[in-house]
Amino acid sequence: MKIDVISIFPEYLAPLELSLLGKAQDKGLLEISVHDLRAHTSDNHHSVDDTPYGGGAGMVMKAQIWGDALDTLITDGCDLIILTPGGKRFNQRMAEELSTKSHLLFACGRYEGIDDRVRQHYSTTSYSERGIRVHEISIGDYVLGGGEVASMVIIEAVTRLIPGVLGNPESIVEESHMSEGFVEYPSFTKPANWRELEVPEVLLSGNHAAIAKWRSEAAHKRAQENL
Ligand code: 6GU
Repeated sequence: MKIDVISIFPEYLAPLELSLLGKAQDKGLLEISVHDLRAHTSDNHHSVDDTPYGGGAGMVMKAQIWGDALDTLITDGCDLIILTPGGKRFNQRMAEELSTKSHLLFACGRYEGIDDRVRQHYSTTSYSERGIRVHEISIGDYVLGGGEVASMVIIEAVTRLIPGVLGNPESIVEESHMSEGFVEYPSFTKPANWRELEVPEVLLSGNHAAIAKWRSEAAHKRAQENL
């Protein structure tokens, strides 16, 4: 999978080189490139934003600069992901879908967002005919300073589903229940007694049916409590 991320703070995306993702890149399963939006400015001040038409607070990122940046990176069949708090809420099902794609292109907005004509332009038929799809995605109901952290959340959730990226594929199979409304059961490891707290007896029983039943009930109880 090829992943491109465009941001005015490319240093912010440095963690993408670390640990799990760094190794996946060494193995050739993944290629992540981070690009500086300001490389596409032509004025002396390298300005990327301007005041909003219609007035109001804040600044809007300019369509022309985003267009120039995206034109250099967009490919046939790629998925363009615009990060915005107004986007579709990201979830495990979307992560699974995106994990099957070959090229993800992330546009990290700052300020009050990107001029909406960027979304409109890359959503036209001349792009959809080339298999280019545009998604506006949010990672939750709160406002971040920009899409950088959101893009990292999505990249981590998506790339760990790519075969070979994660060490232990069994944990992915178990987790896939989560996207069907399941949640995780509580886990314990040695010792069986810690600060007077005992591991539930059934987990030491070796009775696999009883263990599965206990875990399912405990998972549902926890889900209720965390509603
Ligand atoms: Cl994708 N961007 C920003 N700025 N804030 C967010 C978000 C994205 N998702 C949740 N909050």
